[in-house]
Amino acid sequence: MAAFAQDHGPHYTGDNELIRPEGYREWVFIGATLGMSYDPNSAKRKEPKFHNLYINPASYREYKETGRFPERTILVMEVLTAGSHSSINKQGNFQDKVLGVEVALKDTSRFKESWAYFNFIRDDGSAADSVRAFPKESCWSCHDEHAATDNVFTQFYPVLRRDP
Ligand code: HEC
Repeated sequence: MAAFAQDHGPHYTGDNELIRPEGYREWVFIGATLGMSYDPNSAKRKEPKFHNLYINPASYREYKETGRFPERTILVMEVLTAGSHSSINKQGNFQDKVLGVEVALKDTSRFKESWAYFNFIRDDGSAADSVRAFPKESCWSCHDEHAATDNVFTQFYPVLRRDP
């Protein structure tokens, strides 16, 4: 089963839904963000969330060598609540409850725009086992327009930034 353990996916259901990646905490950690908001229509400030970002190791190695993300690149964005007053802590935040994951995936054999976007966090807070990709205008368009490298927001990830 060693070979299978190395197979980071992507894996799909027969219905063309992406199966939630597992084991990503052992992939390459590329950075964390806190409370970023890019919705110009968000009137009220929401509770800030942490995002922890991971990339599958094979794609990380190829990106480091070539500056390009290969096919089957998977980026996992784990979403966590920000804890504050707990235990001895009086100031600042720590990463508290895991809410779930969102995924960006490059797979041109399935998706016309190469990159597809998925949210495994259901509205009721539970985790979906498999989900369909969002339509282009929900996610892809903003990533395509504003991300520094091939739809990926490398400008915010110290490990992938070209100019640290
Ligand atoms: C208005 C712009 C915008 C839209 C729309 C958007 N994103 Fe993003 N996304 C970002 C920014 C900025 C980041 C940088 C990291 C962060 O937010 O923590 C990001 C990062 C990500 C990442 C980490 C990998 C990467 O590409 O950098 C994933 C996964 C992701 N978004 C999923 C989604 C999904 C799913 C949707 C649609 C439901 C979506 N995004 C819609 C701006 C956007």
